Amino acid sequence: MTPPAPEPLAADAPWIVMKFGGTSVATLPRWQNIRELVAGRRTEGARVLVVVSALTGITDALKQLCAEVDAGKRSEATRTIAQRHYELLEHMQLALPDTLGTRLHDLAQLAADGPAATGELAWQAQVQAHGELMSSALGAAFLSHSGLATEWLDARDCLTAVALPNQNERTRLLSSMVDSRHDPRLAARLAGLGEVFITQGFIAREGASEKGAGRTVLLGRGGSDTSASYFGALLKAQRVEIWTDVAGMFTANPRQVPGARLLQKLDYEEAQEIASTGAKVLHPRCLSPLREPRVPLLIKDTNRPELDGTVIGPEVREHAPSVKAISARKNITLVSMESVGMWQQVGFLADVFAQFKQHGLSVDLIGSAETNVTVSLDPTENLLDSDAIAALATDLAKVCRVKVIAPCAAITLVGRGMRSLLHTLSGVLAEFGQLRVHLISQSSNNLNLTFVVDEEVVDTLLPHLHELLIAAGALRTDDSALFGPSWQALYGSGELPAPAAAWWHAGQRPRLLQLAAEATPRYVYHLPTVRQQARELKSLAAVDRLHYAVKANTHPAILRALAQEGFGFECVSPGELKAVLATVPDTAPLLFTPNFAPRDDYAWALTTRASVSLDALYPLEHWGELFRGREIVLRVDLGRGLGHHEKVRTGGAGSKFGLPVEQLDAFLRLADVHGVSVRGLHAHLGSGILDDAHWGEVYAQLASLAERIGSVAFIDIGGGLGVPSHPGEARLDIAALDRVLREVKAAYPHYQLWMEPGRYLVADAGVLLTRVTQQKGKSALRYLGVDTGMNSLIRPALYDAWHEIVNLTRLDEPATALYQVVGPICESGDVLGTDRRLPEAQEGDVMLIAQAGAYGKVMSSPYNLRDEAEEVVLDD
Ligand code: LLP
Repeated sequence: MTPPAPEPLAADAPWIVMKFGGTSVATLPRWQNIRELVAGRRTEGARVLVVVSALTGITDALKQLCAEVDAGKRSEATRTIAQRHYELLEHMQLALPDTLGTRLHDLAQLAADGPAATGELAWQAQVQAHGELMSSALGAAFLSHSGLATEWLDARDCLTAVALPNQNERTRLLSSMVDSRHDPRLAARLAGLGEVFITQGFIAREGASEKGAGRTVLLGRGGSDTSASYFGALLKAQRVEIWTDVAGMFTANPRQVPGARLLQKLDYEEAQEIASTGAKVLHPRCLSPLREPRVPLLIKDTNRPELDGTVIGPEVREHAPSVKAISARKNITLVSMESVGMWQQVGFLADVFAQFKQHGLSVDLIGSAETNVTVSLDPTENLLDSDAIAALATDLAKVCRVKVIAPCAAITLVGRGMRSLLHTLSGVLAEFGQLRVHLISQSSNNLNLTFVVDEEVVDTLLPHLHELLIAAGALRTDDSALFGPSWQALYGSGELPAPAAAWWHAGQRPRLLQLAAEATPRYVYHLPTVRQQARELKSLAAVDRLHYAVKANTHPAILRALAQEGFGFECVSPGELKAVLATVPDTAPLLFTPNFAPRDDYAWALTTRASVSLDALYPLEHWGELFRGREIVLRVDLGRGLGHHEKVRTGGAGSKFGLPVEQLDAFLRLADVHGVSVRGLHAHLGSGILDDAHWGEVYAQLASLAERIGSVAFIDIGGGLGVPSHPGEARLDIAALDRVLREVKAAYPHYQLWMEPGRYLVADAGVLLTRVTQQKGKSALRYLGVDTGMNSLIRPALYDAWHEIVNLTRLDEPATALYQVVGPICESGDVLGTDRRLPEAQEGDVMLIAQAGAYGKVMSSPYNLRDEAEEVVLDD
């Protein structure tokens, strides 16, 4: 049954302009998609103007036709072009509509006539305009036939080109600009004609007062997006939507930086700057028409309409200054000019720039000193070839000493208020310190900072800089209102929703609110999640034994659940070992892996069934008799550490863990003396590792050491398996880890492979519930107080760890406030989350702090003698 037709629209109903590019209009399914999207907007109560490009490939085909001198060949080309449209019509099961028939006929005529009558450029404009004229005619027929009455509109009757002082015939005809001041008469005229319209991007008409009035003109590069903006401005539309094949603008080019984050909100100036300095998704030209009438522009992915996209508007709600993007433009040529011997010579700049003007080259960046001026030439604005540059250099040489430096790349940081961010950029600047930086330029609008470097370094440098910017807090990706998921998360493996969506507590709100009503602060653990994580790790076929590193969470219910799943247990103190012995069955394997423990700890542990590990010479040197005749595990330091924070990396000279490999022979001699046998070899490089290759490397290194030792039966490659904490961060790929481990195990199959994960099993299974106590404003910051802090969860204070914070009471309310979430402890470091977008909160609201199942309760303290958080376990 077709849904009932929506109510007719009032004459002043708002307008929405929707633009679809070449690939979006090239096939039947794409048109069906357009139909749904347009019908949706109409149902919302808007009048819709659809702007389309030519079918993909058609503009190029038309350009080729223009370059053809032979009329016969031109006619042949028109037949091929017509054929593309006939095929699409056939898929749509439509007869040739008159509008399209007329266009095809006109095109054939133009091809036959050639440029003689009109002049070359005017003829080219007319021929190329047919791409859009044809696609829109075809679209009008399809939409109307599918029940959505659609008017075909000739864009040239609405968009009038303006004459500009510096225009020549070429720019006037092929790269024109349009007067797009709001024109209420156009809106009124169209409102009288219908509700849904389709028109062409890329084309306009010369004004009536012009010489040769009425000629068709083109809008140049980015023309269709610009047309949509012109229409948006003329109609003062509610918004302009650019439908394309990506969700919007990103913090970096995703091809270079897969972790680049979607920019959800930008103002016109920032977006323009990002578009001008490299982002291809939008042509920078298309933003200026929208600025004055303050019409927002929305970028959306045609294939994934459910994604939020990027909104570009007059202003972004108050937020902390942040770098928004890092972009790179390659193929930059620098021209360095020394004034010959004439210090601060009057007119020097005028002389050199006159040369650039004369050669038709537009200058982008400028750096100057008393005797030197260096400028960059951007290939997107200039037709650069070596002849053009050589000619320029020859002329410049008459007034100065010239050096051309190429190929270079310009790396630009974009963000409002760049100057106020300089203090956060020290790490980034240090990175540039190691390179040859030819030019640094800070834009006078305070929106960008650009470094020109050798082109060859860019591809490896960019991902690294992006990471540094996030780590330094310059690119404040924690602000989830501005920064969306990463490219990888949206398009990478396709399997990765933001972690929050997958978290168990999303479906447990009433129960959690009830638990919080009884008491806060409270830790709540979800055993099904623990089991699910355990089963995932049990799928690692190469692993012979899994131990749970109980330091992450020693709750007895969790120990029992993991014992049931067949896990052994890794303990680092007699206290942990006793807790485990008291809780799990006698059959569960145990490891005792302490560090700098006193003699008595070892003495006691050796009376239990645990395998005891040593990681220094000292115990054998001084307490050798204790270990006489025993089998032990040796923990080595492989010389490097890894992990989410410097403080959790446990390798290298800066870390107190493990026996350095160069002391291995000394250790083995001591072991020999005391009849001690090294049965296991162990390494753990750190915590929160998300790189699946890591554990394969550790196994291979330990196995090659084991070959030297001879008595080794098992290799323990540690824990450290990370869980992503930021929305959009990629999960550890367990299938890839499985492959890696199987591969290395195949190379050394004679050792058992052991692991000892902690965090991976329990982090996501626990949340901390706390209540809002007070609020405070302090200059631009808003503090939101809750009833517990670093005494319950020290990870943010200790490691700058990021835990998602949710207002459970107001889950459905819009996140309009930007809070610093703080606890009641007398320390400035008592902060649970910085710059969190949350709904306006009130005293008593229940806040949920996610991923608190690992290293939460176990690291809590009685500091300030505040009550400890209770623990509650959910078994379903
Ligand atoms: N094995 C050994 C020898 C360890 O030292 C550790 C953790 C693990 C296994 C387990 O690592 P996991 O799989 O949980 O990453 N408090 C920090 C983490 C410190 C980890 C200490 N050792 C945090 O909250 O991030």
